[in-house]
Amino acid sequence: MQEKTSIHGAWASRWIFILAATGSAVGLGNIWKFPYITGENGGGAFVLVYLFCILLVGVPIMMAEVLIGRRGRQSPINSMKDVAIESGHSGSWSLLGWMGVLAGFMIFSFYSVVAGWVLYYIAGMGVGDFIAIGGDDAGKVFNDLLADEQTLLIWHTIFVVMVMLVIAGGVKKGLENAVRFLMPALFVLLLLLLGYSTQTGAFAQGWDFMFHFDPEQLSWDAVLVALGHSFFTLSLGMGAIMAYGSYLPKKTSIGSSVLMIAFMDTLVALIAGLAIFPIVFANGMDPGAGPGLMFVTLPVAFGQMPGGQIFGFVFFLLVGIAAWTSAISLMEPATAWLVEKFGWNRVPSCAVLGFIVWALGVAALGSFNFLSDVKLAGFNIFDFLDFVTANVMLPLGGLFIALFAGWFMKRHATESELAMKSPTLFNAWYIVLRFVAPVAVAAIFILNLIEKLK
Ligand code: PHE
Repeated sequence: MQEKTSIHGAWASRWIFILAATGSAVGLGNIWKFPYITGENGGGAFVLVYLFCILLVGVPIMMAEVLIGRRGRQSPINSMKDVAIESGHSGSWSLLGWMGVLAGFMIFSFYSVVAGWVLYYIAGMGVGDFIAIGGDDAGKVFNDLLADEQTLLIWHTIFVVMVMLVIAGGVKKGLENAVRFLMPALFVLLLLLLGYSTQTGAFAQGWDFMFHFDPEQLSWDAVLVALGHSFFTLSLGMGAIMAYGSYLPKKTSIGSSVLMIAFMDTLVALIAGLAIFPIVFANGMDPGAGPGLMFVTLPVAFGQMPGGQIFGFVFFLLVGIAAWTSAISLMEPATAWLVEKFGWNRVPSCAVLGFIVWALGVAALGSFNFLSDVKLAGFNIFDFLDFVTANVMLPLGGLFIALFAGWFMKRHATESELAMKSPTLFNAWYIVLRFVAPVAVAAIFILNLIEKLK
């Protein structure tokens, strides 16, 4: 194929790509979701399965997404189409891009609600609302917030606007400038926080909870959740990474960049767990408290510790930044497609998309108040969006990406795109992508279904 360039621009360097993709990967998934699903699924055994999924499924599939994106140089919908046609297959592979765009909308709609909570907590910490707060009061603050649709609506709206403003700026002025500034800030805040959490007293207990392997704790449900989360946390299976890959300079090595991104993502999740569980145990709280874990336990801990107010503020600021850089990548594929398809400017494209996700988000935030009676397959709207995207759509998207790059693309195309120095390494990747990853995803799906039908 002729060397293509993207009409949307290109990252200034390999580092910018790594920062942007890490920005996408590191988000609420790492800091909010990972600790609470680890808590709900019994700790160490779950963490181990998750790590396996990252390494054997996540990393190879992320490489596939980046290489397809770079080869296609367009939005995932059009890249899938062109790369499929290039390899002599049907352009209908673009459907995979479409499913990704849909998943992006669905994820964004609940993501933005949680990000809204985070913004609310940044403000609350900032003005000292949580000084010396007790467990019951912290629970009340969170529940009151959930019941208050107006406040939720305000913060959700602010978040949607923040995200869309960046995307409207384009790859260079928007995305690149944002991650250049936000990602270093995120790392500094994270280190500050880790230092603080080692001082909390129950560090050993938190450590033990996360890394003590007890196979008894493992259920098929937990394995599916771990698999789904490995896709969610690496932003895989929906085209975000593919879109970022389409702005990647030609010479950049995909393998080492992806390893770096996956490593940083995992590191942040583990650090977040190690920051949160010691606090949970030090205060005699329940690690399986669910989505409220971060919003109820942490304010209590911060409220009682010396300097807690400042660190609480720092913590939620960190989460807010992480959510922001991730949400940007959720909407980039759809934006790029609108620009390609209709030749629109980014600004009207973002206005349209922003409105759609804003409206969906209103439905998601209604799950906690005015729409709490609405149930889809037994879930409220919020939980439904979360469950279906993370545990069904993303693994399915990832499965098809693996099959596409492994079985449908011409071998020489993947080989030249990855440009690995060692043929052995390439072969290892190829085998894992063609056999191990798809079989693992399919097996976990099927075994889970069988378990459910029993
Ligand atoms: N990876 C992000 C997180 O962990 C969520 C995300 C999923 C972002 C899919 C983009 C695409 O929070």
